[in-house]
Amino acid sequence: MQELAPKGLEGVYVDKSEIATTDKTGNLVYRGYKVIDISDRLSFEQIAYLVDYGKLPTSDELKTFSKFLLDNSRLSEGSVKIAELMKGRNLIDILRTVVSSLQVDSVDAESLVSIAAKFPEIIYCGANGGSPPKIKGNSYRERFYYLLTGTDDPEKGKLLEKILIMYMEHEFNASTFALRVTASTLADPVCAFTTALATLKGPLHGGANSEVLRFLLKIRNNEEVRKYVDTAMEKKEKIMGFGHRVYKDKDPRAQYIKGILVKTFPDNLAVRNAVFMEEYIWEKKKLAANLDFYGALYLHLLGIEEKYYLSIFAAARVFGWVAHYSEQRSNNKIIRPLALYTGKTDLNL
Ligand code: COA
Repeated sequence: MQELAPKGLEGVYVDKSEIATTDKTGNLVYRGYKVIDISDRLSFEQIAYLVDYGKLPTSDELKTFSKFLLDNSRLSEGSVKIAELMKGRNLIDILRTVVSSLQVDSVDAESLVSIAAKFPEIIYCGANGGSPPKIKGNSYRERFYYLLTGTDDPEKGKLLEKILIMYMEHEFNASTFALRVTASTLADPVCAFTTALATLKGPLHGGANSEVLRFLLKIRNNEEVRKYVDTAMEKKEKIMGFGHRVYKDKDPRAQYIKGILVKTFPDNLAVRNAVFMEEYIWEKKKLAANLDFYGALYLHLLGIEEKYYLSIFAAARVFGWVAHYSEQRSNNKIIRPLALYTGKTDLNL
């Protein structure tokens, strides 16, 4: 009897990677640095550079990279039109479609980053129609915050940056692994990013965050939290924002975002209910809150509408996808496992 890999490839190492990992103490690490340490000291651009190029940028490299992001952020008329035609659809569908219409055949890091740089404006055009407004702000976080909310708010921009950093990279998660499968066939970067966007949409991966928020904004007290959790568990329903393939005790990204939430919005009812819900679910089933759980509320309290959440996740994770596309192509072997066939083999016409 052939041996099957565990269902969902749980616990299986399928390749080596130098991009990110979770260390023995449960910390997420990008290229050797603990994310929660660097996120308070480095900008989105610095960390994106670190993830994509494998080292921290010098000040000249950072200037060049930041300018490259800015120069490549603008959309062609064609892209604006495609986004506008799809206005009102889920923003991840719009991102997937506009990205798939781009023509990028080169596989060098710059070409990959040039796709990533366009995500904020694609999101803007998909949500609002029409061309994006004149660029405001010097940093990625300021420009993105402005496109999402139409307001300049340096403090909230800084907070947006923190969650973008948390979302940026997470080794062989489902969308990244799907991207690596596509990259392994030597398909171009546009094909690979389109695969990743399609995979991110599912509620077991990126699509959990909106559902979490709707619930958190409805409940008023601990009693309602208990009732909701007990009912879901009796019906064996999954509670969005809880559980994780890698983090069985604590998701360090969720704890980091929770820390900012509790400090910044100590009297907010939804924040207090969320903290109680995390404790209650842990007590009942030892399931940890994941980044989507606190992330959705965090984005809401930054004044960002729910329709944007998954696409914000994508706009950050795409910088991880850049690194994985390059890594896969630099030492490639087509990813092509086997199926253990359990159907019939002896039918006759
Ligand atoms: N609510 C209730 N029970 C959950 C749960 C949740 N959110 N997540 C996991 N569980 C339970 C499962 O029912 C299972 O219980 P059992 O052993 O009694 O059957 C056990 O925990 C293991 O879960 P499983 O689904 O096998 O883990 P996984 O590693 O395959 O899946 C997720 C990980 C993230 C897909 C899963 O936890 C989930 O669906 N979470 C909700 C969606 C979500 O928040 N996604 C965002 C991820 S960042």
